[in-house]
Amino acid sequence: PEEVFILAIESSCDDTAAAVLRNNKVLSNVVARQHIHEEYGGVVPELASRAHQQNIVPVIDVALKKAGVAKEQLAAIAFTQGPGLMGSLLVGTSFAKSLAMALQIPLIAVNHMHAHILAHFIDEEGFDKPEFPFLALTISGGHTQIVKVNDFFDLEIIGETTDDAVGEAFDKTAKILGLPYPGGPLIDQFAAAGNPKRFAFTKPKVDGLDFSFSGLKTQILYFVQKHVAENPNFIEENKNDICASVQNIIIEILMEKLQLAVAETGIRQIAIGGGVSANSGIRNTLKAAEGKYGWKTFIPKFEYTTDNAAMIGIVGYHNYLHDKFADAAVVAKARIEF
Ligand code: KG4
Ligand code: ZN
Repeated sequence: PEEVFILAIESSCDDTAAAVLRNNKVLSNVVARQHIHEEYGGVVPELASRAHQQNIVPVIDVALKKAGVAKEQLAAIAFTQGPGLMGSLLVGTSFAKSLAMALQIPLIAVNHMHAHILAHFIDEEGFDKPEFPFLALTISGGHTQIVKVNDFFDLEIIGETTDDAVGEAFDKTAKILGLPYPGGPLIDQFAAAGNPKRFAFTKPKVDGLDFSFSGLKTQILYFVQKHVAENPNFIEENKNDICASVQNIIIEILMEKLQLAVAETGIRQIAIGGGVSANSGIRNTLKAAEGKYGWKTFIPKFEYTTDNAAMIGIVGYHNYLHDKFADAAVVAKARIEF
């Protein structure tokens, strides 16, 4: 069996990441998080691309060093082509192209959302790989999709958000509560100590397998404004319960659509991916669904949930096995289909 070393680069949003894989095993997985956006309440594209440019060489150097792999041993370079912020994507794309050219090795263009799904095929002790076909729920700051995964390269979006992504629902709620960006992990943390039944929010009515989160955000905003008008300390006094209740309604929305997707497709294997799948409430609810509904659920290792390059590397590896290489004229794409 051949040993294939792949360097993977991810720069679609605000994390600069590089990983080295040997076949389907991760040798190193390095992420430089950009904290600069915290004070702005969201990612500032201009600052993100600048930070990528600053970080990309050191991050790749560390990834190679940690893996104990020399540049000359690399078989290919995989990079995130999209979707994402154009200025951010350009940094990774241009760098990947230049390095592939210098090393005279093939280049592999990877769809970021594809990577959040195939992250489940990284060889990791204690983690099962799903069998085809399975359903993937990809939940991140930019996306909310239910994907029917028929094969490594045969994916069908069967449901998606018509407005905000679920991560935005978390982040915007956090902003309303005066918490820094990204607020998802903080809501998760406060929710753990709160009562999820304390405040009732209503589920949006959306047909079929699609989602909508913008109405929920407005609902939460009005709810908080109304209570703060009566009691200026409302947020401080009820933070845990508000977070738990918001997280609870989001979980209910996701679970309702997953149940519908299972009913429509007959597929009972569910894999989650994307930054929001780091949420402990979502992880616990899905685990519980195994006993409750007879599903088999796949929850990625924590470091492969939020943006990372290892997931780009595993897609790169499967592309490599199928000789799916990008040509030198490949360009970054802010929007991209499977
Ligand atoms: O996949 P990701 O790292 O970047 C995108 O591709 O968007 O996802 C980032 C999103 C943010 O909205 C962040 O608040 C959310 O994932 N997130 C969480 C948690 N950890 C990250 N949301 C809820 N609970 C968490 N523990
Ligand atoms: Zn992502």
